[in-house]
Order: sequence, then structure tokens, then C-alpha cells
Amino acid sequence: MLNKRNILILVGLIIIAGIGSYIVSDMLVPEKNPPHRYSGIIMGNEADKILNRVCFNCHSNETSWPWYTSLPMINLLISSDVGEARDYLNFSNWDSIPEDKRVLYLNMVFDKIERNEMPPMIYKLGHPEAKMTQEDLKILKDTASSLGISFNPK
Ligand code: HEC
Repeated sequence: MLNKRNILILVGLIIIAGIGSYIVSDMLVPEKNPPHRYSGIIMGNEADKILNRVCFNCHSNETSWPWYTSLPMINLLISSDVGEARDYLNFSNWDSIPEDKRVLYLNMVFDKIERNEMPPMIYKLGHPEAKMTQEDLKILKDTASSLGISFNPK
């Protein structure tokens, strides 16, 4: 089975998959961190700090890309997550959401946090800073009520 020819084929396939994963990950996130930033208020000063800490790594143009995110195949997983997350909601482009639509997005944001669906479970395993503390939840609760949005996390 493992004769010289098969080993060569195997090595060739690994190299092609490695190179392919770079090409595809560049297609998914062509520009790692586009320059545009939104510097106004999204929810409120304190609540925005929480979003920044917990959500911005995927839902903004301020993603951190540590060395392991450029390993072949892992780069694919992370790029597709960040690309998809930005497509759904990119807080750096908050200014391009019409003001009357923003509350709809905020409703979605609170809903995801309330159901504990965001940030994704697997992400929290490797990112202790992405865990919501009781204090965070209190701030978010006050912010939601000031915006007239219902928010009852468990
Ligand atoms: C590890 C990356 C990551 C982090 C961190 C993250 N998200 Fe997401 N988010 C995604 C991805 C990927 C999607 C699109 C696929 C899905 O819905 O699972 C998404 C989708 C969403 C959506 C749209 C859901 C829909 O169905 O329309 C909302 C709202 C959202 N996230 C809010 C948040 C909030 C709020 C935070 C922080 C508390 C957060 N996310 C943190 C990756 C992330």
C-alpha cells in the first residue's frame, strides 16, 4: 500500500489542499480587516464595550488574526466564520444601517444573547473574555429596557 508512488500522491494532495485552503480563505475574507470603523454609539457606552469585547472579533472589521488562524484548513474554518458573521451583521458598518432599521438589529442581538446562541459555544471555549458575566448581563438588561427591548437572559 504505502509504496513510494502512493506516498508521493499523498504528499501532493496534502500540498494542494494546503495551497487551496489559502486561496479559498482569501476569497472568503479578501481583506482581513477593512479600514472602515463606526465610532458612534450602537446601544450605549457601557453596553458597547461588552459588544466590543464579546462580538467584535467576528462581527466587525476589527478581527484579531493570531498566528494559528493562518494554518492551512484552520484558516478556512475561521475565514468562513468571520466572513459569514460580517455578512449577517458588521458593527463596523453600523452607520450604513438606516436609523429606523437599527432597532430591528438590536432586537436580534439581544435575542441571540438571551438564548445564549451568540457568541457560539465553541468560540467561548477558547476565548474566556467572550463569557458574559452577571455584571455584563445587568448592563445589557438596563440598556435593553432603556431602548424598549425585552431582554430576559437566564
Ligand atoms: C466566533 C465568531 C462569532 C462571534 C464571537 C459572535 N458571532 Fe454572531 N454570528 C456568527 C456567525 C458565523 C453567524 C452566522 C451564522 C449563524 O447564525 O450561526 C452569526 C450570526 C449572528 C446574528 C444573525 C443571526 C441570524 O440568524 O440572522 C446575530 C444577531 C449575531 N450573530 C449576534 C452576535 C452577538 C450579539 C455576538 C456577541 C454577543 C456574536 N454574534 C458573537 C459568528 C460569531
